[in-house]
Amino acid sequence: DDTKDGVKGLADAGVTKIPGIFHHPNSHDQYDSGSTQLTVPLIDLGGVGEDPAIRKVVVERIREASETWGFFQVVNHGIALSVLEEMKSGVHRFYEQDSEVKRELYTRDPSRRLVYNTNFDLFISSAADWRDTFYCFMGMAPNPPKPEGLPSVCRHILLEYSKQVRKLGNVLFELLSEALQLDPSHLNDIGCNEGLSFACHCYPACPEPELTLGATKHTDNSFVTVILQDHIGGLQLLHENKWVDVSPVPGALGVNIGDLLQIITNDKFKSVEHRVVANRVGPRVSVASIFSTGLQPSSKLYGPIKDLVSEDNPPKYRETTVHDYVTYSLARGFHGSSLPHFRI
Ligand code: SIN
Ligand code: FE2
Repeated sequence: DDTKDGVKGLADAGVTKIPGIFHHPNSHDQYDSGSTQLTVPLIDLGGVGEDPAIRKVVVERIREASETWGFFQVVNHGIALSVLEEMKSGVHRFYEQDSEVKRELYTRDPSRRLVYNTNFDLFISSAADWRDTFYCFMGMAPNPPKPEGLPSVCRHILLEYSKQVRKLGNVLFELLSEALQLDPSHLNDIGCNEGLSFACHCYPACPEPELTLGATKHTDNSFVTVILQDHIGGLQLLHENKWVDVSPVPGALGVNIGDLLQIITNDKFKSVEHRVVANRVGPRVSVASIFSTGLQPSSKLYGPIKDLVSEDNPPKYRETTVHDYVTYSLARGFHGSSLPHFRI
């Protein structure tokens, strides 16, 4: 495996042409600009915990965004700007380590707690993405991993950020429950906020960005993914058949509805298709906080929530464990949605 120094290794070596494996045959559509009127919903969470009138408005905006976009950005979410900045710095520090140090974590075994690799689906994909990722399982609530099991260059901030993002996760799942007219604690009670993993992405500067992608079009196999991105941009959502930029907003976090939430809401909430375009500048870093128990052993079954189905709206999915869903989705790679396979 000569990919162990990652895409960053190639970029640092100063390549001026990207290897053929990174050529995406259909990447020509990547600069199709969407209609400029379309902007991703930006929702201010300030006051949702104190003011019922504000909460009502926010819940309605979240419902609308989750049904039509499957994505929204949030500000005043309770995580300090300094924590977000330090988290991005921690990711930079991880990637700036010597390759010998990173190579120790290099693996394609997704069941490991720490996984560093380039393109988790390299051997099943038709073209590689201009991206490296460090995955880190942050444990099942309320048990964080032991600090000594985390890379020393970022262990402190991984633990601090996970604590804060879990708290935000609880708030988001309450608001999403209310948006579904369920008991506020419903989604937390059924375990949506139980497992948390980070995918810390690094998208090095690319000499030929128009020929490749930072991330191929996909949906997330989570309940929800919270996205922290830096100022460079590149994340795009497929909305009404147009690619719409998720423009970086200082201090904002993206909230991405994942496949598992689409399943349990019986298609009411939409798992959004998204991708990342490559950039001439970089490295861009982002942190995806993945709310899902992932490959942890699980017997809990998830299917459309009883209160959300009726005779007129019968269940559209069979029940599955998170483990089985994630296993299926990882084996498929970024090859189109895994949802049809679980549809009744
Ligand atoms: C992803 O996890 O889909 C990538 C998000 C991003 O880099 O903005
Ligand atoms: Fe994603």
